[in-house]
Amino acid sequence: MSDTTQKVALITGATSGIGLEAARLLAKQGHRVYIGARTAENVAVTVKTLRAEGLQADGKELDVRDTASVKAFVQGAVDTYGTVDVLVNNAGRSGGGPTADIADELWDDVIDTNLNSVFRMTREVLTTGGMRDKDHGRIINIASTAGKQGVVLGAPYSASKHGVVGFTKALGNELAPTGITVNAVCPGYVETPMAQRVRQGYAAAYDTTEAAILQKFQAKIPLGRYSTPQEVAGLVGYLASDTAASITSQALNVCGGLGNF
Ligand SMILES: NC(=O)c1ccc[n+]([C@@H]2O[C@H](COP(=O)([O-])OP(=O)(O)OC[C@H]3O[C@@H](n4cnc5c(N)ncnc54)[C@H](OP(=O)(O)O)[C@@H]3O)[C@@H](O)[C@H]2O)c1
Repeated sequence: MSDTTQKVALITGATSGIGLEAARLLAKQGHRVYIGARTAENVAVTVKTLRAEGLQADGKELDVRDTASVKAFVQGAVDTYGTVDVLVNNAGRSGGGPTADIADELWDDVIDTNLNSVFRMTREVLTTGGMRDKDHGRIINIASTAGKQGVVLGAPYSASKHGVVGFTKALGNELAPTGITVNAVCPGYVETPMAQRVRQGYAAAYDTTEAAILQKFQAKIPLGRYSTPQEVAGLVGYLASDTAASITSQALNVCGGLGNF
């Protein structure tokens, strides 16, 4: 019997890319996974897909920018599966451009989606989700190597992810005596729908092709290729395990050597 059997894991943004593979792996490890994203239809399809693979999954529409939605989501998980053992704050968006031209709306939405959301979800899981009354727990925040180094034309994104790393370190230290660990996973370039949108954005900004941007990005990665969502999920799965009990307040890269700090 796996040490994760019957544990409940919440994953935000789990209908695509990294979140989907994290949900799949945690479910394969024996977690009951509860997933959320804004598009209800995609949540339903993803739940169906995971169940068809023999996994325990359920979920609900969720907008991590909306406190009422976050509350309803966590309550929904508790009603369905019981109190929460693992939270993966994965939902996020890209966004940037020349900083002088960035509108308030874009700046605010990137910070709200990527950073404020992590606070909102975490607070709700600790309270409504019952995690703070347990003697164990796992909070795993999907940050980015852009949370450790500046990304040109990505000031709001980089700022939001640096914020996630700071939140992780502070909360990890705060909760360490309780048995709840808090860590950030920092992917570099990962082949997902978001990565495609990012390449489109840079191709437009530099007036070149997406293929040229792909080549430029790959050349920066010592491994020579993008990471896969499964490779990022692998670290999430490890951090969720009992063996990872002494890893807390860390920001760990999965990036093919792109960042080496
Ligand atoms: N791909 C990369 O190269 C890369 C690198 C470093 C870090 N990351 C980080 O990894 C995470 C996942 O990225 P990904 O590449 O897997 O992205 P993705 O393929 O675009 O998937 C994003 C997921 O988040 C959901 N989502 C977006 N906004 C949301 C909101 N306001 N509320 C709830 N769910 C929301 C999306 O569904 P809906 O649109 O239906 O809501 C989708 O399920 C993000 O935090 C991203 O910043 C990615």
